[in-house]
Amino acid sequence: MADDASTLRVRRSGPLRGTCRVPGDKSISHRALLFGALADGAVEARGLGRGGDNLSTAAALRALGVGIVLSGDEARVEGVGFAGLKAAVGALDCGNSGTTIRLLMGLLAGRPFETELGGDASLTRRPMRRVAEPLRRMGATVDGRVDPARPGDVFPPVRVRGGALVGIDYDLPVASAQLKSALVLAGLQAKGVSRLREPGRSRDHTERMLRAMGAPIAVDAGSGAVIVDPSGWNGKLRAVPIVIPGDLSSATFLFVAAATVAGSDVTVENVGLNPTRSGALDALVAMGAEIDVAPAGDAMGEPVGLVRVRASRLRGTTIAGELALRAIDEIPALAVAAALAEGETVFADLAELRVKESDRIVAIARELRRAGVAVDERPDGFAVTGLGGRPPAGGTVKPEHDHRIAMAGAVMGLSAGDETVVPAADIATSFPTFAATLAALGASI
Ligand code: S3P
Repeated sequence: MADDASTLRVRRSGPLRGTCRVPGDKSISHRALLFGALADGAVEARGLGRGGDNLSTAAALRALGVGIVLSGDEARVEGVGFAGLKAAVGALDCGNSGTTIRLLMGLLAGRPFETELGGDASLTRRPMRRVAEPLRRMGATVDGRVDPARPGDVFPPVRVRGGALVGIDYDLPVASAQLKSALVLAGLQAKGVSRLREPGRSRDHTERMLRAMGAPIAVDAGSGAVIVDPSGWNGKLRAVPIVIPGDLSSATFLFVAAATVAGSDVTVENVGLNPTRSGALDALVAMGAEIDVAPAGDAMGEPVGLVRVRASRLRGTTIAGELALRAIDEIPALAVAAALAEGETVFADLAELRVKESDRIVAIARELRRAGVAVDERPDGFAVTGLGGRPPAGGTVKPEHDHRIAMAGAVMGLSAGDETVVPAADIATSFPTFAATLAALGASI
């Protein structure tokens, strides 16, 4: 599978077949840990993702005085409530995780002490003004590193000094669940109502889980605005057991592998199917993928089901607007499907990809071109001319600290004419069992 712990060697594969599961959803796992810490007692979570990002959240919460015991995919979080969080000794290390740093900024904006938050080289390049600016308006003091090359923004490390917050009526400049969630956490600690409107509907795991824990949060059915009204609330989240579904973002790499490797037939069980996240399934269906989805109830307000994907001939499509937003983390995987399809696929309205774990537009264009695929890079996306059955070239993937670029490179390697070498250390950020899962399905990895 790997010639050492951090390099994958991938070769053209025969059919992938079988049934598998993927680790717990990364976004929901962050929230289980964070909101569990704010509960009025111990919270047991099952199905927790154990990737590096989720471990960063657990470590940061421990540094703030929260007891967390992890065992396999289970966690026990000793909730201390907002008031029980203690000032950390030293800076919090958020690793590679944008969700960790941004949600913690919102949470700590309401705490009466100062916290410094930083992370790895990739996180240190990610923009934080979008969070800092509204938190300042609510009454917190937020400073960050300034980069003369990108004036007007702030970057980690950031320092947050909590203040007595007031609610905010706010139009978010970008559709971002990390920003929305940060402001919800600040809003729960503020005096007065907060109203948060997004230019598009980002993932709503925060709203679903907080409601299940009794937080005073509502979503306006018409506008989709999130309303936080803590007046009359006792300030405590209910300690309820949390069950976390498998991560659709991880599963999408398996779906694309199954759709593109001839003769494949793969079923992934227990996958989260939240409609604000499931754009990749719709995009693959539009490309002609053979996909069956069997819903199997829900876990804490999150729909779950089984997804079966069989190989088929894929054709180009357009991924833009709300579909693009609902597939924001799956674009690297979908780009591989586009590269192997017949005809052109256009990816648009995706400027946010430039500020993910890497500039994903640059990274995807680089990796597709390495494999011999024509890519037209645009400010808010790119267009791909599919190989339509010709094998891509192998070579060495350059993930540059982006787990999803590494996994996309490996999945394309399953169809390549020659060997693909993937530096794989970063894959553990979200999907530590990626290579083992593909190998068990029969992949040459
Ligand atoms: C996430 C939100 C998204 C997503 C990220 C996880 C979350 O980012 O890309 O991987 O857990 O809230 P934005 O909120 O910045 O769009």
